[in-house]
Amino acid sequence: MKSLPWWKEAVIYQIYPRSFFDSNGDGEGDLPGITSKLNYVQQLGVDAIWLSPFYTSPNKDGGYDVADPRNVDPRFGSLEDAKELISSAHQLKLKVIADIVPNHFSDQHEWFQAALLAGPGSPERARFHFHDANPDGTPPNNWISLFGGPSWTRVDDGQYYLHLFDSSQPDLNWDNADVHEDFEKTLRFWLDLGVDGFRIDVAHGLVKENVLEHHHDPQSLSNALRLDYPMEPEERNELLLSVPYFDRQGVHEIYRKWRKIFDSYGDREIMAVAEAWVHPPINATKYVRADELHQVFNFDLLTAPFDAAYLFEVINRSIELNSTVDALPTWALSNHDSPRVASRIGDDQSRALAFFVLALPGSNYIFAGQELGLPDGELSDHDRQDPSFIRSNGLIKGRDGARVPLPWSGDISPFGFTTGKPWLPLSQSWKNFTVEHENSDPHSLLNLFRSALSIRRKHLLESQQIEWIESPSHGARGGSILAFKRAAITVVMNLSGEGMDVEFPGEVLFASSGPVQVNVSKKHVPARSCIWISN
Ligand code: BGC
Repeated sequence: MKSLPWWKEAVIYQIYPRSFFDSNGDGEGDLPGITSKLNYVQQLGVDAIWLSPFYTSPNKDGGYDVADPRNVDPRFGSLEDAKELISSAHQLKLKVIADIVPNHFSDQHEWFQAALLAGPGSPERARFHFHDANPDGTPPNNWISLFGGPSWTRVDDGQYYLHLFDSSQPDLNWDNADVHEDFEKTLRFWLDLGVDGFRIDVAHGLVKENVLEHHHDPQSLSNALRLDYPMEPEERNELLLSVPYFDRQGVHEIYRKWRKIFDSYGDREIMAVAEAWVHPPINATKYVRADELHQVFNFDLLTAPFDAAYLFEVINRSIELNSTVDALPTWALSNHDSPRVASRIGDDQSRALAFFVLALPGSNYIFAGQELGLPDGELSDHDRQDPSFIRSNGLIKGRDGARVPLPWSGDISPFGFTTGKPWLPLSQSWKNFTVEHENSDPHSLLNLFRSALSIRRKHLLESQQIEWIESPSHGARGGSILAFKRAAITVVMNLSGEGMDVEFPGEVLFASSGPVQVNVSKKHVPARSCIWISN
């Protein structure tokens, strides 16, 4: 088998540091807490961890509001703790991917504070998008923030600054040389500390054009950008083509420069994955051209229904589009910005889909807690902290549900996550989702994940191709069964509400629904489940 760069087929475990494990009883997860649980992560069988931001931040947007990108926020520990985490991960042969947030800084960053003091026309203001108000005092244009409300905030001297997200997250001006220089310094800083790659936040947003022009229909555009907002696909697609602040040509020049930095670290095989929500889908492949980044997130499965035709189409499309630039796709069912898959499509369905997707070529991203089958937390509005909830006056519930801390042990909330009061409450109904509980049950989702990841590593990676054997366009039951072969494994998912028999040869290795049947010629695939068969 030819050896692939480590990231090509990596399974990457996303850790939201605030919610993973609290080592000091303050109710929030921290870096020493992560380090203390790395054995658990390694035993899961993943290749890498991606850490959501842990940098100095007033935490208005879960740390995606960075006030010092080259330091650790005291709530998470210290730089020494970061070094310790990275070296412990490496000892366990886990790679470490850090998050980099280049679209904006926090308003507490020293540059923004200096810009406020320096006043209109100053070099300090030129690092952001400061503009004068219109003669009637209104903002320079009518864009709506992605968290709701206007995307401009006025400062005392009357100028406005642009923020695509919260008003505490001023957008950086990537036409400014200081911005380029500072981010290159940040990349090298973390690479020199040992990280193996970056997840690039809002990778498609850095370069803005025509920041003084109005959009013809900002409210509809804002709705179209909200995945939970119902809209006819044609209307949404047309609006998404008109986003004035995403996916401009200039972003690719930035990534070409960054790629040279990554490559200068030689055989460390530094990688970067772009968070780029772009339209049409072919545009995403531009981010992974040979001289740019290594992976781009595929968000299709974060919103996909549990439907054979739909899944067949998005899986094929992703494989095909990526192949045009000689890349492999990425797959993710949950992350810190979207509802957890078990809550979105149901428990059985999410288990089936997880194992179907784990067998596909490319990289899989698993959001911590997904391996336990965690649903979204049950929160009251009083608990919510997401700026999108606050800025939309509660219209958008926001992303806190997916960010509720992990349950580790015991029978009583907060299930060993902290000895203090957790920053978001863990529901008492999570008793059977703890790591301790699932460890002791051989058929738990956690143990199934471990088996699947081990089989994947041993038997699937020798081929990067799949061959469909049952799908909406192959076979009579294509509306109910999706099946493909990859290397020595046949993967079968029954999407219907009734059990079905399939006659593929081989031994059933594993079933998402629980105990495995071995060596039977007719295999029963329970309703809403997935099985792997060794050919
Ligand atoms: C991150 C979000 C964050 C936003 C602004 C993203 O897409 O994943 O959590 O709120 O960027 O930084």
